[in-house]
Amino acid sequence: MSDDGGAPGVHRVTRRTADRGESARASRLWWEHAADEYQAEHGAFLRDTGFVWGPEGVDEADARLLGPVDELRGARVLELGCGAGQCARWLRTQGVERVVGVDVSRRQLQHARRIDEETGVGVPTAQTDVQNLPFAAGAFDLVCSAFGGLPFVPDAGAALTDAARVLRPGGRLVFSVSHPMRWCFPDDPGERGLLAEQSYFDRRAYVEEDTAGRAVYVEHHHTMGDWIRGIVSAGLVLRDLVEPEWPESNQQIWGGWSPLRGRLFPGTAIFVAAKPAG
Ligand SMILES: C[S@@+](CC[C@H](N)C(=O)[O-])C[C@H]1O[C@@H](n2cnc3c(N)ncnc32)[C@H](O)[C@@H]1O
Repeated sequence: MSDDGGAPGVHRVTRRTADRGESARASRLWWEHAADEYQAEHGAFLRDTGFVWGPEGVDEADARLLGPVDELRGARVLELGCGAGQCARWLRTQGVERVVGVDVSRRQLQHARRIDEETGVGVPTAQTDVQNLPFAAGAFDLVCSAFGGLPFVPDAGAALTDAARVLRPGGRLVFSVSHPMRWCFPDDPGERGLLAEQSYFDRRAYVEEDTAGRAVYVEHHHTMGDWIRGIVSAGLVLRDLVEPEWPESNQQIWGGWSPLRGRLFPGTAIFVAAKPAG
């Protein structure tokens, strides 16, 4: 349970600004509370030693967005917002020895410890905020993230700049986030989720507050242009942008993601970027 006072009760949903500190605090509070349910509901889909990029089910074992696994074996890898460390653990099973995961939520990392013990594949982790990475410049060959941390920060450019800082020249940053066009629609997997209600250009955060007006959940919106601008201003080169299609075989509903909506518009964006070598 959180050291901020227990389970967050949601009193009001609003759109407003939320700065770095408030956003990180809300994420920590929220995920302390939500981690058990998240792992119970999605753990089987994520798999203890699987690398799934998002609700569509794109699997790194097939997609190879991180590059050929042979080239990863000696790499130093950082996973941002690792949750229970499934992605990092998949990398370990592929022979990548030097993998570290970071997450703001202690409870998510406790699930990582549980799965480490159950699988016998351990992932070193640290509880920290992706907005302030406690690593030296150039410490990693690869930074990756599956919906981890980055959708929850107000200044995507600053977070990407910090991720680029810890990458060595020639290294790669690959991350998935909610597809920006989802912002227009209610987060509803059914028919209601097909009707645009909100401006794509409205950058005010989605905020759930408690009775004292404190944010207990914050999600930020960055347009496609914002993400690309953030990548470029971090000194990275965009190599690919993957918008996975919803596969016929996937019948699961995950929050606002569903086969109904997935047939019509993208739910996930995966950015593949590289830091120039010289
Ligand atoms: C949707 S979960 C994804 C976790 C994991 N990558 C997965 O695929 O299951 C989002 C994760 O981001 C973490 N997170 C949110 N804001 C963060 C921040 N500012 N710094 C670090 N982690 C954060 C949450 O604690 C949570 O574990």
